[in-house]
Amino acid sequence: MTVRIAPSILSADFGKLADDLAMCEAAGADWIHVDVMDGRFVPNLSYGVKIIETVQRYTPLPIDVHLMVVEPEKYFADYVQAGADVLTLHVEAAPHLDRQLNAIRELGVQAGVALNPGTPVESVKEVVHLLDLLLIMTVNPGYGGQPFIGYGLDKISRARALLQAAGSTAALEVDGGISRDTISQCWRAGADTFVAGNAIFSAQNPRLEVAVLRGLCATTA
Ligand code: DX5
Ligand code: ZN
Repeated sequence: MTVRIAPSILSADFGKLADDLAMCEAAGADWIHVDVMDGRFVPNLSYGVKIIETVQRYTPLPIDVHLMVVEPEKYFADYVQAGADVLTLHVEAAPHLDRQLNAIRELGVQAGVALNPGTPVESVKEVVHLLDLLLIMTVNPGYGGQPFIGYGLDKISRARALLQAAGSTAALEVDGGISRDTISQCWRAGADTFVAGNAIFSAQNPRLEVAVLRGLCATTA
């Protein structure tokens, strides 16, 4: 499996976002993870279409948009127009998963589903064939810099088994508390795509940290 590192700009310095994006690119990051929060699905507000547009202007890297919002379908077309390459909604905010995933795919981008720590893997079982990405949250979404929830590891293994059983090639992404201390366990459990905010942007050398995180997967394959 190929390792993907997706820095989350939630922890970037927005006064120098273009520089931080250039750093990610120079560091060899694979995707840029953009966390959209509405203050309703999660108890925090972040940013939306305008920031996706800005990210697209300043980096050629694919933009991985994590929608922590209710009624995510309201703005699918706007996010895609702004430059999103992957749109991931939360199953807890998606009563019409089949319709919503198809709507994303019809816009020509990759469709993902995220699961909160308390949501079982089985909640996506019927729609695995519609998934380009499955995101396992290892924190309660809403904030950067929270501690990794350890019981998520077993869930990653079961998510990998679910994808394998369905013959799916969807990415298996993990988000929340990913650091030098946690990434290799997630990789061994079956994740291949790693979101990291605090670990990268608060590192003494953020550029090096991307390589360190990737290396921790490679050495524990
Ligand atoms: C949390 C967001 C994450 C966040 C991760 O709700 O979905 O993407 O930026 O931050 P760290 O890596 O600091 O836990
Ligand atoms: Zn996220």
